[in-house]
Amino acid sequence: MSISIQRMSDAIGARLTGIDLRSGIDDAVMKEVHQAWLENFVIVIPGQDLSGDDQIAFTEWFGPRQEVRTVKVVDEGPQNFMYVANKKFDGMESVLPEGEMQFHTDQCYYETPSRATILFAIEIPAEGGNTKFANAYRAYESLDDAMKSRLQGLKALNVYDYDANSTIKRYESSPDAPRYAHPVVIRHPETGREVLYINRLMSDHIVGMDRAESDALLEELFQVLEDPAHCYEHVWTPGDLVMWDNLCTLHARTWFDPSQSRVLRRTTVAGKAPDAAIASAA
Ligand code: OGA
Ligand code: MN
Repeated sequence: MSISIQRMSDAIGARLTGIDLRSGIDDAVMKEVHQAWLENFVIVIPGQDLSGDDQIAFTEWFGPRQEVRTVKVVDEGPQNFMYVANKKFDGMESVLPEGEMQFHTDQCYYETPSRATILFAIEIPAEGGNTKFANAYRAYESLDDAMKSRLQGLKALNVYDYDANSTIKRYESSPDAPRYAHPVVIRHPETGREVLYINRLMSDHIVGMDRAESDALLEELFQVLEDPAHCYEHVWTPGDLVMWDNLCTLHARTWFDPSQSRVLRRTTVAGKAPDAAIASAA
């Protein structure tokens, strides 16, 4: 197989062609895929016809799968899949069925967020339901030195109330919602680079900071993260396999017509707790 890699935008994302994941997992091919993923943060492998088992084999090449912990979305079956879908599919409960979703990273409200998330597109609406990806390395790099030093040592409390605020943060989160404080700037475990690790849907406040000051600081940083210059918007085609680096990217979803089916099969690779970066602001 000869893989060709085409960048999707200046900031983030690459499309990998010349790969057929049905023909089994080939180590040499997967090493190229891994490298392309580390360099481009989001990879799209189009034109696949993947069974659940194929998707699991692909996922597990990167490491053990992350346990699905949100009680409501657990599939009790042996495969532990999740479907991001607006209808029942394959007899399984689905999650995140409807509409627009704000920028976030997966499971940043746990000590150990997932390392990677993988979605395989099965049914896609005619319009909308695109997934936007933001490059959080670039967001950090674009801050000025005064801001970089201001962020040193800060932590943000990330909270996710799946019942009240699953896609847009509208309400006070329940005190029972899972939460974890991670450094605002983390060091990526594989690349060693600094990443701005907060997001609009889940980062509630900066630990120990006055609420008004925290809201203003977070809003300023969210604007940088969500700057279209740091983003790529993926328009899905059935058969697309997309994998994102869940530590250095954020993702969001655009609105779509709820009467049209949207079904993606989701798997995740387990991660470790991210370390704080000692920001070199000088
Ligand atoms: C996810 C997610 C966005 C989408 O699966 O974690 O946020 O476009 N999905 O469905
Ligand atoms: Mn997500």
